[in-house]
Amino acid sequence: MPAPINDASARIVILTGAGASAESGLQTFRDSDGLWEGHDPMEIATPEAFARNPQRVYRFYNARRAQLEQVQPNSAHREIARLQDAYPGDVFLVTQNVDNLHERGGSAQVCHMHGELGRMLCLNCCARLPAPQAFDAQTVCPKCMAPGGLRPDIVWFGEVPYNMPSIGSKLAACDLFIAIGTSGVVYPAAGFVQEARAHGAYAIEVNKAHSDLAPAFHEHRVGNATEQVALLVEELLSGASF
Ligand code: OAD
Repeated sequence: MPAPINDASARIVILTGAGASAESGLQTFRDSDGLWEGHDPMEIATPEAFARNPQRVYRFYNARRAQLEQVQPNSAHREIARLQDAYPGDVFLVTQNVDNLHERGGSAQVCHMHGELGRMLCLNCCARLPAPQAFDAQTVCPKCMAPGGLRPDIVWFGEVPYNMPSIGSKLAACDLFIAIGTSGVVYPAAGFVQEARAHGAYAIEVNKAHSDLAPAFHEHRVGNATEQVALLVEELLSGASF
């Protein structure tokens, strides 16, 4: 069992997935009513799909962006922000989610490894820019003024996620790794638990069911993120050691 961690030297890495935003009303990808049930990910979330049918891809992400305005952060987002704020040690938050609910829930530091719905990427000048509510192939890049080069700033299948070197350093130094609401089927995020454990971290999974990766964790908190994250944060802030 790792040493107690409830002081300024303690380091926690939290990884969130679509399950963290599910109770806000955003669909997950792989649950029975998930996004990928109605859409083939290979026809949406790949550079090849974008090259074949950009309109379909713009439409999909424009709809996701519009939906964000209809939803609110839930208590799991707010409790993670409270932990980041009040915990004496370092709490690094990395999310696979492309929504902005962690920020709206109060998190000052969020590492968006799969990009963000709120940003667009210009293939002409490589700028990453705030996205308007909707954009498409006719939209002119506000930086280089070229039309036709803007795509959603989302990391698609086959592309390298953002910030991998800093995520790797945080995983190598953490005492506690917590995965919340992720199915553990998409790499490299699915490998983070092994990476953290290889460096001696204790690992907790929070999920409404046991994920594919469940055997890799020391401990499971089974239930809805809103309820389980609140309990875990309360334990950590009241000095629980793992
Ligand atoms: P998934 O849809 O694969 O998994 C969601 C997980 O959340 C499942 O394990 C559910 O059991 C769990 N879950 C659902 N509701 C929950 C709740 N209320 N409380 C706790 N857990 C809950 O989503 P991700 O693992 O995030 O990538 O998917 C990873 C990546 O695959 C996404 O970032 C996306 C997708 O393709 C790209 O688009 C590049």
